[in-house]
Amino acid sequence: MTHPAHADLILDWYDHNRRRLPWRAEAGQVPDPYHVWLSEVMLQQTTVQTVADYYRRFLTRWPRVQDLAQAPLDDVLTEWAGLGYYARARNLHKCAAMVVARHRGSFPADEAALRLLPGIGDYTAAAISAIAFDIPAAVMDGNIERVVSRLFAVEEPLPAAKPRLKALVADLTPQQRPGDYAQAMMDLGAMVCTPRRPACGLCPVSARCVARISDDPERFPLKSPK
Ligand code: ADE
Repeated sequence: MTHPAHADLILDWYDHNRRRLPWRAEAGQVPDPYHVWLSEVMLQQTTVQTVADYYRRFLTRWPRVQDLAQAPLDDVLTEWAGLGYYARARNLHKCAAMVVARHRGSFPADEAALRLLPGIGDYTAAAISAIAFDIPAAVMDGNIERVVSRLFAVEEPLPAAKPRLKALVADLTPQQRPGDYAQAMMDLGAMVCTPRRPACGLCPVSARCVARISDDPERFPLKSPK
């Protein structure tokens, strides 16, 4: 019997089960870095459902990063109203202007260069690098943290376990389709490997999930008492 690689199982599951979200390129299409950036900034503190409409409105009004860079800040803040955390909208506008001024309108591909832009932290830099440019960056968000902590039954509590979890994700991330891999892990966390009552029967990697094998996946991730 052969053992398919972890990433192949995850990607195959994604190909059949992924969420159709407006910022995702269809299979075989090249994602636009401006679209990826806009969606990832909006998703930093806001749910997928809420972001979808805002994302569409922003792109209709400002189809290119140059359009957003030239928009009056007040228009951007008005369009942002309801998403909260207005610093994000100010940084969004500043970032668009910097991409135009310093990068001739093209987002840089590598994480270090992305992190120098306003509003782009570790998570967003890795997500843009992987999703828009197919660079195998280790993408870590709350959903991915939960999936990985269960796969390896990590006994160290959050937040101390974060560096260890990130190292595990870096090891798991494939050279091929790293952006799809990251989004597959997000979808798996949102749809199957949920905080309560995970649907292990639907999980493509349950056979090798240490938390599942030990019979109490809900125990992970452990959290330090506040
Ligand atoms: N949350 C943050 N980024 C996401 C993405 N690309 N797909 C689904 N959920 C997300």
